[in-house]
Amino acid sequence: MKIVAALYPGNDLAEKYPELLGCAENCLGIRERLEKQGHTVVALTDRECELDKHLPTTDTLITTPFWPAYITREKIQKASNLSLILTAGVGSDHIDLAAASEHNITVAEITGSNVVSVAEHVVMQILALVRNYFPAYHDVMNGGWNIGKIAAKSHDLESKSVGIVGLGRIGQRVATRLKPFDVKLYYYDFHHVSTVDEAFLNIRYLSLLQLAANCDVISINCPLTPATKGLFNYDLLSAMKKGAYLVNTARGAIVDTEALVKIMKEGHLAGYAGDVWYPQPAPADHPWRSMPNHAMTPHVSGTSLEAQKRYADGVYECIIRKLEGRPIDKDYLIVDGGKVVSPSYSYAYEKR
Ligand code: NAI
Repeated sequence: MKIVAALYPGNDLAEKYPELLGCAENCLGIRERLEKQGHTVVALTDRECELDKHLPTTDTLITTPFWPAYITREKIQKASNLSLILTAGVGSDHIDLAAASEHNITVAEITGSNVVSVAEHVVMQILALVRNYFPAYHDVMNGGWNIGKIAAKSHDLESKSVGIVGLGRIGQRVATRLKPFDVKLYYYDFHHVSTVDEAFLNIRYLSLLQLAANCDVISINCPLTPATKGLFNYDLLSAMKKGAYLVNTARGAIVDTEALVKIMKEGHLAGYAGDVWYPQPAPADHPWRSMPNHAMTPHVSGTSLEAQKRYADGVYECIIRKLEGRPIDKDYLIVDGGKVVSPSYSYAYEKR
């Protein structure tokens, strides 16, 4: 079997940090193990020309959301041997799922592998925004001591209303971690969680518009699908409370790029944070890099060292199952048997 992995570059850190499994050089720790079994493993960072060269002879393709190879219909058409695309991580929107279904290619991701890592990043970024952390940090770095300037925009999180869009694995972990802050929790999802879970999380359901109008902080935790692309457009961003904060660790394209820049320049939102952009890597002149009051990072929340170990193990397990003719864990499947099967994605695809 020929396995091709398109992963982010580790450069000079790869050798020094063998636990940096997610980079192309260390190739999820799977290269030696699979080569010993007689398989060919190619790891690359070039997601265009070099990947295209290998596509016609690739059986299994590994991609990662942190350095996404955008697997378009055109690329799928070139990959006549391809039967499995694995996402090293969670979130397979960089793959044309309709085209994969039509070509009977299975798409699977390592469900749950980095959900704690992301939830922790969300809590960190909510606190960074609400407490006005980055201006305070930059003040120190610039030799300043401007207490008034920083304190004028610094709040307690306690008693604030926090809304979660997409109460799945990450959303529920964000809620669990925020509970001890004594916030009021709300969520919007296309289905309700059980009343028992609502009671356990002390969280209430609101429509998306109610959530926008009532919450001081919103965290986006739903997948990018045809139903969520551009969901946070100018209208929805304007419907958010003046002075609210928005954190998006889901996918950049869920928020309309230009609409966000406009609303941030108008000062309607007090802050925006997250780690996801479109496209990725974000070009040096991406307008979110320079818009006011943001606290963004590159796409790193789901690739802590612990997360890398979990998704690397998951990728290896999927490949071994495929080689042994055993089915891939049902929870991992996004596309299988010619259709989108993941409950978090199929809703949007069935409705088209
Ligand atoms: P999940 O599948 O457990 O939960 C997603 C939730 O979103 C589900 O409850 C689903 O019903 C809901 N949802 C789907 N479409 C919706 C819509 N149109 N409106 C409202 N809710 C909707 O997925 P999980 O593990 O919580 O991950 C969520 C997303 O977070 C991933 O799809 C991925 O895009 C992103 N992610 C980002 C990472 C990062 O490093 N920044 C790492 C892992 C995931």
